[in-house]
Amino acid sequence: MIRLNEEGLGCKVSTQDIERSLAQHPSLMESCWAGTPHGTDWLGWLSVDQWAGPQELARIHALADRLRKKTDTLVLIGVGGSNNAARAVLSALGPADPCHRVVYAGNTLSAWTLRKLLESLEGHEVALFCVAKNFRTLEPGSSFRLLRQHLVSQIGKRAAAERIVCNGTPGSDLERLCSDEGYTFTTFPPNVGGRYTALTATHLLPLAYAGIDIDALVKGARAEESELRRLPDHTNPALRYAHLRSLAGRSGLTIELLASFEPRLADFGLWWQQLFGESEGKQGRGLFPACARYSEELHSLGQYVQDGTHQLMETFLDIAEPGPDDHLVLGTSDVADGFGYLDGADFWDINKTSFRAVLKAHASVLPCATIEIGRLDEQHMGALFYFFMLSCYCSAELLGVDPFDQPGVEAYKQLMHHALGRVE
Ligand code: PA5
Repeated sequence: MIRLNEEGLGCKVSTQDIERSLAQHPSLMESCWAGTPHGTDWLGWLSVDQWAGPQELARIHALADRLRKKTDTLVLIGVGGSNNAARAVLSALGPADPCHRVVYAGNTLSAWTLRKLLESLEGHEVALFCVAKNFRTLEPGSSFRLLRQHLVSQIGKRAAAERIVCNGTPGSDLERLCSDEGYTFTTFPPNVGGRYTALTATHLLPLAYAGIDIDALVKGARAEESELRRLPDHTNPALRYAHLRSLAGRSGLTIELLASFEPRLADFGLWWQQLFGESEGKQGRGLFPACARYSEELHSLGQYVQDGTHQLMETFLDIAEPGPDDHLVLGTSDVADGFGYLDGADFWDINKTSFRAVLKAHASVLPCATIEIGRLDEQHMGALFYFFMLSCYCSAELLGVDPFDQPGVEAYKQLMHHALGRVE
């Protein structure tokens, strides 16, 4: 379902280099499926059905339906792996249901943003979904308190309790709080790290609330899993992409730019950025993951990409087939505006043609690859999540780092907590 198009390779990394690298690591894919050498405790996402099987999906639907009956707004309180995937899908495919919206908190400490959020809740029937694996993170912890106090002030303690759902680790302070206050507690998958939870209740619940077809999303991920398990190494696109990244790093490049000509994928880029940044950026290694929104940022970053320091590889994310709203024809003009060459052209085609021209230009100076999805819909989004998570796992193993820890995050967290007076 997901294709890797390597036609933009040649500079610094070639298709032949990928073949050689595959031959040098003949057992990598097999050992990743088996869960070695890293992550035996963190591979709950590797089999989609482990956390998104039929029973779990039925449970998620039931909980989402209960919240949907009483409310029109779900505040998703979470940061990083605890909100990025749901936000990526909602930006790409939403709004699916105008009567049930998801808004975000727990990802900022900005008083202004939080004030605006509270104002935006006025006149709405609100539910809260607090996702916090260990309930130690400052942003979701502080936002959750703010929002539950706000909700209680609006509808009282008992009614608020019926609208508060949490997702956390059993035995955590969050579970204790839920049991003391009568909130619904759901389990954050103990064998899945935050940034690998895209296909679990952590994200599927807010998506179901917003009317996204989570069954289709999971179906797409499951189909991608079977495909990637079945394919031999040399035609496995997730594995080839991992080798491409590894070769780019070894050839001295330091940045991977994920670029798309579809702005609806900008939040998907943020999910991708966290996945690769937190999984690989350790021990002084890893490509720095950056995102670009084209064509707009061709007018800012474009100059640098083409002509700046030679430290980039570029991965384009491309949608092959247009959806029902993806056509818009530009009419002819009764004044001479200099754009007569666009008379009657469809923006879909203008955008595609521009993409191909840019690919050609960039590929002349840096390694470019394209990850293609058939359509922008639930099934393909599910497939994309699975594709990148598997690729990231393989890529980190090639790099020689543990894809499932994040030791660097602890340093700033400790200083932040200390500065704010937290007693450990
Ligand atoms: O991938 C990870 O594990 C992290 O980025 C977490 O998702 C993020 O820090 C949020 O953590 P928590 O859910 O504990 O607040």
